[in-house]
Amino acid sequence: MTNIPYIDLHCHLDGSITVDIARKLAALQNIELPASDAELESRLSVPESCEDLNEFLECFALPCSLMQTKEGITESVHLVQEYMKSQGLAYLELRFAPQKHCDNGLSQRDAIEAALAGLKMSDLHTNLILCLMRDRGNEKENLETVELAREYLVKDGGVVAVDLAGAEALFHTDQFAEPFKKAREYGIPFTIHAGEADGAKSVKDALDYGASRIGHGVRTAEDLALLEYLIKNQIPLEMCPNSNRQTKAVDDMSKYPIRDYLAKGVKVTVNTDDPAICRTTIAKEFEYLEKKFGITAGEKKIMMLNAVDAAFTDDSTKAALRAEVESAF
Ligand code: HPA
Ligand code: ZN
Repeated sequence: MTNIPYIDLHCHLDGSITVDIARKLAALQNIELPASDAELESRLSVPESCEDLNEFLECFALPCSLMQTKEGITESVHLVQEYMKSQGLAYLELRFAPQKHCDNGLSQRDAIEAALAGLKMSDLHTNLILCLMRDRGNEKENLETVELAREYLVKDGGVVAVDLAGAEALFHTDQFAEPFKKAREYGIPFTIHAGEADGAKSVKDALDYGASRIGHGVRTAEDLALLEYLIKNQIPLEMCPNSNRQTKAVDDMSKYPIRDYLAKGVKVTVNTDDPAICRTTIAKEFEYLEKKFGITAGEKKIMMLNAVDAAFTDDSTKAALRAEVESAF
């Protein structure tokens, strides 16, 4: 095998702020951080004792505080791309919630423009996914994100889709019909985090809205008819094994269904979710799968080709990525 052209379709900007990136962002904006790298790392990553997704999501406060200016957002996008490139990425879909960058007066539009400016600074092929948030009282903000996605939508090289992130067990997918009805009406492709902290019904609701991919989807098999539907319609799952281990999306990782899904013909892809918060890289995710579940090189290739098919990009990019994956194995 030559160098693997890794693809990450599920990577959050605020989950990708490493110690090194945090220090650069803080220096740029005169923000004080803990002096010790060990302490900073413990604040930027999930503790082994993490109980669930709700606790996991608390880790996002510090990285988000470093991205409340245009400069902070632009530089973070640039630095995360460079970091991901150094980890062997050939194609990245980076997601962020514009509404989480408005604490100090930026508008969602400012946040998107700043992220797009960052995108131009790296040669790593990257597209942006705009996240709506599961939260209380932010209906207006979620609708605004959809309107802006419509305005900025491109086939490649910018905003390519929307998503729904946040605490799935607290704010169920069935509460978000309105923004996704609009997204569908506007022809904006979307993925939804579902079947991670909530069950198969959440995946079903996401598919009913018209999601073309599912973030995680680990718990889909709770409803075998739904799993059949995923297989029949080749709906890609953006699986993130170490994140799922840390958030206890399954209570026992030996029962993690990735092998079973693959064997049944589910369109599985492998992603990091939050490389800094999960202390992972895409290569480590595959290593984990090899060690824990005996995933073979052939299966790795299948999952990488699934990622090419699932990517929110144009056909010429897919053809180039497919050729790269083919020649790497
Ligand atoms: N689920 C929901 N929201 C998130 C996640 C996740 O795994 N990672 C970052 N934001
Ligand atoms: Zn995620």
